Amino acid sequence: MIWITLLLVFLVVSILFIIEKREVNTIFEESKNKGLLIAKNMADRNLQSLLTWGIEDIQENIEGQIDDKLLYVVFYDRYATPVVYTKQIADRKDIFCCSNLQGNILKGSSFSQARDIYFAKKLQRILDIEIPIFHEGSDVKWGSVKIGLSLEDMRTEIRKTRLILILIGLAGFILGMAGATLLARRISRPIKKLAEGTVRIAKGDFAHKIAILSQDEIGELARSFNAMSDQLQLMRERMEEAHKKLIHAEKLASIGRLSATIAHEIRNPLTSVKLNIQKVLEDKALDATEREHLALSQEGIVQIEKFVKDLLNFTRVSELQRARFAIEQILDESLKMMKDAFHEKKILIEKKLGEGLPEVVVDGDRLRQVFCNVMRNAYEAVGEGGRISLSLSLVDDDTAKKIRVRISDNGCGIPEKDWENIFEPFFTTKPSGIGLGLANARKILEQHRGSIKVVKKRGKGTSFEILIPCEGES
Ligand SMILES: Nc1ncnc2c1ncn2[C@@H]1O[C@H](COP(=O)(O)OP(=O)(O)OP(=O)(O)O)[C@@H](O)[C@H]1O
Ligand SMILES: [Mg+2]
Repeated sequence: MIWITLLLVFLVVSILFIIEKREVNTIFEESKNKGLLIAKNMADRNLQSLLTWGIEDIQENIEGQIDDKLLYVVFYDRYATPVVYTKQIADRKDIFCCSNLQGNILKGSSFSQARDIYFAKKLQRILDIEIPIFHEGSDVKWGSVKIGLSLEDMRTEIRKTRLILILIGLAGFILGMAGATLLARRISRPIKKLAEGTVRIAKGDFAHKIAILSQDEIGELARSFNAMSDQLQLMRERMEEAHKKLIHAEKLASIGRLSATIAHEIRNPLTSVKLNIQKVLEDKALDATEREHLALSQEGIVQIEKFVKDLLNFTRVSELQRARFAIEQILDESLKMMKDAFHEKKILIEKKLGEGLPEVVVDGDRLRQVFCNVMRNAYEAVGEGGRISLSLSLVDDDTAKKIRVRISDNGCGIPEKDWENIFEPFFTTKPSGIGLGLANARKILEQHRGSIKVVKKRGKGTSFEILIPCEGES
């Protein structure tokens, strides 16, 4: 702004200065030419009277010419002595006394000079113009004529021009300043916004976006800036995701180590306890109460064995034994395994199958385990006479075709805040639960590049959505 202001001031002042100088020169030249013409005219008109020394005629003639522009006229003879002059300068010897064209003067030469003098009681700018007068048809000089032209008109004219120029300059300056201010604002406002944006980004607010208001370089900068914050946001999400995965992997590794130790430390003594209980039970002398206590101990041992088995099952990372299956078949087998339990609780099973479901290449045993774990949870969640519905359909998202299995129940439901936690190992809300069922299901599905999640469901209960890619097709 400061530089533009200075530049504008400099430009306006120089332009005004040049214009005024030219204007003054032009007006002066014009006045001079006019003066020369008047002087020549004066000489021509009075030449006859000059030759005959008709001084009175000349006097009369020149008096009649005097007005507020032509201030005085003086005729000099060849010796530069004033011969006739107008009355107005009768007492102004300083004006009429001296000729400026003395001695030998060539035809066509002239004298002109502007000066400020007191005339008619005021200081006036006057242009003195003097030209020589020659005898007709000869080079012999008769004398000269001097006239005094008032330059006050010219002064007024110049003043007017100067005023107009100043006004134009001022208008130009104001317009220029307004333009510069607007321009400066247009540039500085988005830059300010960009600066604010960088501060917010630096504070970690990657969702912050800058409004793109123009198509120029600033707009381009804002666009790049937004792209950068998007990229940063994406990177952060990926990092958080990777971090989560890392924590998860570490957790799994610890569980793996723990379960290996448990398996090693518990399994052998447990087998021996189990065998010994069996041996004791063979003793016919045992009474009913003793047998009952031993049977309870055996049940406890079975539970411990199941725990160890689940734990090892969860931590073991083994190759998938893939084969071509129709998902419906695996689902039916899982249902068969749960049949007795469902029957006992009078649970109603609803099945809905989509059409044209392709076969998939999966590990049948593991997938059965997944369906069983989810259905067992549904069975545990519903009350007597509850309902479990199963649906199969084909989904085609932008990456690949997938089979979607929905297992829903009308049981107690899961609070939304726990929708992710339930897949964490050892997360359980059941008194005798281990919390490995869903963790295991997710692990198996991830091995198949599939997924499992809880989805919103109308009415009470829970709905799980399982996606299995149709890899067998490709
Ligand atoms: N259909 C469901 N309805 C209500 N809650 C459920 C359902 N399925 C899972 N949950 C919740 O998710 C938790 C975790 O389930 P998960 O199967 O992993 O472990 P668990 O059933 O508690 O124990 P287990 O290892 O014996 O299966 C459950 O404790 C339960 O709170
Ligand atoms: Mg379970």
